[in-house]
Parts: sequence; structure tokens; C-alpha cells
Amino acid sequence: MSEQTPAPAPSQPGGSSGVPVPKRVRVHHLVQSKERGEQITMLTAYDAVTGRIFDEAGIDMLLVGDSIGNTMLGYSGTIPVTVDEMIPPVRAVASASRRAMVVADLPFGSYEDSPQHAFATAVRMMKEGGAHAVKLEGGRRVAAHVQLLTDSGIPVVGHLGFTPQSENVLGGARVQGRGDEAAERLVQDAVALQEAGAVAVVLEMVPAPVAARATEVLHIPTIGIGAGDGCDGQVLVWTDMAGMTAWAPRFAKKFGDVGGALYTAARTYAQAVRERTFPGPEHSFAE
Ligand code: KIV
Repeated sequence: MSEQTPAPAPSQPGGSSGVPVPKRVRVHHLVQSKERGEQITMLTAYDAVTGRIFDEAGIDMLLVGDSIGNTMLGYSGTIPVTVDEMIPPVRAVASASRRAMVVADLPFGSYEDSPQHAFATAVRMMKEGGAHAVKLEGGRRVAAHVQLLTDSGIPVVGHLGFTPQSENVLGGARVQGRGDEAAERLVQDAVALQEAGAVAVVLEMVPAPVAARATEVLHIPTIGIGAGDGCDGQVLVWTDMAGMTAWAPRFAKKFGDVGGALYTAARTYAQAVRERTFPGPEHSFAE
């Protein structure tokens, strides 16, 4: 997606300072991007610091993913994450962003059993968190949920392919949609989400030709993660993208070594304290 209004340089306050406030990315921009063949960019964010940086960097969509479980909360996966744990990070990212569409994940157990349950959770994400959209996992089995949310004014992003909340049924993080039958099921699930009103669909760990086929069939954008280059956009977990961890999935390219830079900063700080070269007079108050 092209940045309709250029993002301001980092840390500029904008608004009253004369820096133009960028136009918020909205659902019609997603379809416009697909029609124009402009790639949509999405990253996860879990706090105000990274939310602001990614927003200012011009990332179109910020996903407060339930991947917060394994990236930030020290869980082994997404399944333990609760709605109460999601709300503060959603609020932090939403309040820090001025341009990006902020999408809140509905965590495991907070929506599957009924459209009404999905509605109640999504309302919390919007009212208490300030999210602009929600994301939930599944295809035809959640079509009625997507329909009710959409009819109620809540934009929904679908999520197909490897859906981490179902990792115990799927047998771990495995590529989904391999073989003609599974590929067709995936495309049909995507169509069902679109017909129910979804504004975009994340495709995770899907063979590139299957993701490209879904992208061709749908008029709403597909956003890939481990789904090849035939999607309408890409999403990555920011800690993978920025090199914060020793291990990252094969599909997650490391675009920086932020973890390494942070390690060096912490080591340098500790050394300066031990050697008494910090704080200097410029960091001290004489009186
Ligand atoms: O929670 C998350 O980070 C996600 C992405 C992997 C798409 O769902």
C-alpha cells in the first residue's frame, strides 16, 4: 500500500506542530491496494514503543497477535493467552499508532463456541482496547461468527492454513493445504470468509501456488506468512523480522539484528556503570 500521507519522521509529535497527521488505513484501502496491485504490509506489535516505531515506519496494519504468548509472555504457544492479557497491549498499540489499522487477535477459547461469544470478545477489543478490527482463526466453521461481527460493524480478518490455536489437532506447525483436496478446502474456506464479510485473510504456512490461487479467487486481500510471494501482502512476527531471538521459522527473514544491538547496549551500559564512566557530569544535577 502506498502511504497516502507520508509518515512523519520518528518522534515528531505531529498535529499541532504542523506535521500532517497521516490518514488512517481503513478497510476500503485494503481492497484498493489489492486492485492496484500494491502490497499491504503488516507486522505484529505488542506495546506502545514498537507500535509507534512501526506506525511511523509506514506499516499498514499492526497485529496485536496472540503470538504475544510465546514472544512476550513466556508461554510455549498461543493457547494460554487470555482476553484480559490481550486488552492492555491492544490499547497500548492503538494509542501509539496514528496511521496503521490495529487488528486484535481473538485468543483461543474466546470466540469458537458461538457468534455471540465472538461478538462479546470483539466488543471488548474495540471498546477497551481501541482496536480497529479483529482477527480470528478458522474457515467455514466461523463464517457465522464473521457474519455477525461484520453486521455489527466490526471488521474481521480471517486466518487460514496453519492456525496456531489448533496446533494440537494439526500436529504442530505444519504446512497446510498440500494436495488437491486440502488446497480446494482451503480456497473454499477463504471464499466462505469473504462471503461472510471478512476484510482480509491471513494465510499461514500454505504452499505458494495454493496461496496464489486463493489470492486470485478472492476480491479481498490475502496476507501471507510462509505462503510465498503471490499474496496481496505479507505479515511477520516482529521479533522474528528484527532478529530478537536465536531461532525463527524458515519463512521469517531477519531484516535487522535488533536483539544483537540491544545486547551490546546492555553490555556497554553495565561496563560503564562498573567502570564509573556513567553517569557523567552531563547526566547529573549539581544541585
Ligand atoms: O498471532 C500472530 O502473530 C499471528 C500471525 C502469525 C499472523 O496470528
